[in-house]
Amino acid sequence: MGRTLRLVVMASGRGSNFSAIADAIREGALDAKIAALICDRPKAAVIDRALTYGDIDIAVLTRKGFATRADYDRALAELAAGYDPDIIALAGFMRVLGPEFVGRFPGRVVNIHPALLPSFPGLDAQKQALEYGVKVSGCTVHFVDEGTDTGPIILQEAVPVLEGDDEDSLSARILEKEHSLYIKALRLIGEGRVGIEGRKTRVDEKRE
Ligand code: GRF
Repeated sequence: MGRTLRLVVMASGRGSNFSAIADAIREGALDAKIAALICDRPKAAVIDRALTYGDIDIAVLTRKGFATRADYDRALAELAAGYDPDIIALAGFMRVLGPEFVGRFPGRVVNIHPALLPSFPGLDAQKQALEYGVKVSGCTVHFVDEGTDTGPIILQEAVPVLEGDDEDSLSARILEKEHSLYIKALRLIGEGRVGIEGRKTRVDEKRE
């Protein structure tokens, strides 16, 4: 059932979530096509990763040269829209997108965050969790609205914080879960099993 989900992935850095999505598609675990990677940093490692697949368009658009953030967001939205995506998947895109971007794709932009939202939004979520002293953290896939990590939650997975964890060890344990959770969320969306109801989602996981 469902249809091939047309994705634009937006990333700024390392790109492990990007690769997890691209690998899942290649292995037949996710019925999707990455129409393009959009990156805001010309030297990001994610670009080298995208090149290895051979069939993924790569577009780099930096903030430089745009007078305002709104102008930049409009240009990003125009660029993304040109690939005709069903869903725009943020995968470590290190900018908050304003209404000029998000308003153009209502209910179609998703993000992965390395904490159990609404705890620890924004930057350095794993560090925030360690400093707070929580015993359980995790990751969240959510729709993007105009706030920072505030949109309707699609899926979450818990990850224990262990005695002696530092930012690197906790981040690595969460990252492993991020990869599978993001793919599962995209699969559910592609199969039409995720609906938005106000600030909540309804997720039909019965046939997973
Ligand atoms: C991940 O931890 C993701 O949750 C956060 O940024 C990081 C990106 O990692 N939004 P990668 O570039 O996908 O490896």
